[in-house]
Amino acid sequence: MNLPEAEIMSVTEDIAKLRNATKSFDGINERNRWGFYGSEIESYISSFSTVLPVDLLEFFREKQSPVIIDLMAHTGSIRNLCNRTGIVPKIAVSVSLQDQRTKGEKDADANLNIYQLAGNLLNFETWRKLSAMLSEQKADLIMERAVLGLIHIPGSKKFYNLALRGLWNILDENEGLLLLQTHNIQQLQKTGVNLINWVKEVEKCGVTVNLDAKKRALMLQKHPNSSIDLPKF
Ligand SMILES: C[S@@+](CC[C@H](N)C(=O)[O-])C[C@H]1O[C@@H](n2cnc3c(N)ncnc32)[C@H](O)[C@@H]1O
Repeated sequence: MNLPEAEIMSVTEDIAKLRNATKSFDGINERNRWGFYGSEIESYISSFSTVLPVDLLEFFREKQSPVIIDLMAHTGSIRNLCNRTGIVPKIAVSVSLQDQRTKGEKDADANLNIYQLAGNLLNFETWRKLSAMLSEQKADLIMERAVLGLIHIPGSKKFYNLALRGLWNILDENEGLLLLQTHNIQQLQKTGVNLINWVKEVEKCGVTVNLDAKKRALMLQKHPNSSIDLPKF
């Protein structure tokens, strides 16, 4: 992750406003609030079905000890992926505003090397902690299926550039998969995030990229010959 660049987050006005808005979520019962929370992996697969280049479960059955990240999520979804495929990750991290796991969930996660990082993605500190947990290891799968949680994430050029380029940095070059639910594509266009044009640029960088504008589903797959950086919006 390009940490110095991420410092911009602390000074960007729209990010500061949203960061304040998430404070009203402090202490809420996440399980009751969100509807989708700790969803089964099949539910993610259904959201990304039109952009996935591989069968996700098969992809994992072939991995020895993958590194997995699920942004804006409870650990339940990664645990379900592990249980479905029989894999034990080298490390898996879910990032959510709070850690509200039960004792039973914490024990099950500990057996599978799954961690819940409680933190706001609008705080630079959360990205720094994520980076420290990975300690230079690259991710085989990075997912974000935030659903309602996207109201807390700015659909701005600055944030998309920071987040996408930062996540690209920690994605493994050996067919690592990045699955992202985006904001509404038309709304994004108004802020200068033209995903359709950007995808055309990304294709020129040796990257497999699929966008389903209707489903707001974006997939990038990194290969050994892919560019080190992604184009900017
Ligand atoms: C709808 S829920 C989770 C959806 C989950 N991915 C699923 O499919 O089951 C939204 C999640 O986003 C998290 N969230 C919302 N705003 C966030 C932020 N600014 N930083 C980190 N996590 C955030 C919430 O804590 C919650 O875990």
